[in-house]
Amino acid sequence: MRKAIIAGNWKMNKTPAEAAALVNELKPLVKDAICDVVVCVPATNFQAVKEAAEGSNIKLGAENVHWAASGAFTGELSADMLKACGVEYVVIGHSERRQYFGETDATVNKRVQAAVNAGLKVILCVGELKEEREAGYTDALVEYQTLIALTGLTNEQVEEVVIAYEPVWAIGTGLTATDEQANETIGVIRKALARKYGQELADKVRIQYGGSMNPKNVKGLMAQPEIDGGLIGGASLKAADFSLVVNYDK
Ligand code: 13P
Repeated sequence: MRKAIIAGNWKMNKTPAEAAALVNELKPLVKDAICDVVVCVPATNFQAVKEAAEGSNIKLGAENVHWAASGAFTGELSADMLKACGVEYVVIGHSERRQYFGETDATVNKRVQAAVNAGLKVILCVGELKEEREAGYTDALVEYQTLIALTGLTNEQVEEVVIAYEPVWAIGTGLTATDEQANETIGVIRKALARKYGQELADKVRIQYGGSMNPKNVKGLMAQPEIDGGLIGGASLKAADFSLVVNYDK
């Protein structure tokens, strides 16, 4: 069976002092989690979070990574830099990067390859816009986004990637996909993986739901057979809310 993974995506929030306070508050609340617990944070908070999370079950993640090992890429961070700061996970291809920073399926693929080859665990984000869902393109789109992002990886590497299905219209809007919609589209992603890599591998890949996941809706979503966790934005910024999501089984 797949182990669930609940990850916070803090986006552009929290100073180092606020980050340490949040993790310190979170630690006792999530210590008995049955799932993997990750917080993906701004790079300015790596050290504070690493120190605060020391000895706990909270894992450190980043929100992006560049594909090159080093060089003239102002403002970017390499996989080795992240690793040197104690980062284990990295979010790649978030819809906010695709929408506001020109991220494409091709650059997502380059980042995924670099991260995986450096030994980082990838949380690959895919998902459709509202217009795309309304036009009936959701399945084709998430299938394409997923497979192109994984191009160049070995089967063993694909198995380790966590996929986050995040319908763009549900992010930060308070609108959630229904439990059935989320389950169905995640099922589509798993079928695409099965066609390309075989059912056995597809059954091992963890696929999260993301988009206004919160303490109220987490139980219903996590009860769906295809949903293996969540990528949480707004509700990850408060220890009480995030811990209720992490403890969805209690
Ligand atoms: P919200 O939970 O704020 O909708 O954000 C979801 C998200 O984008 C996580 O990556």
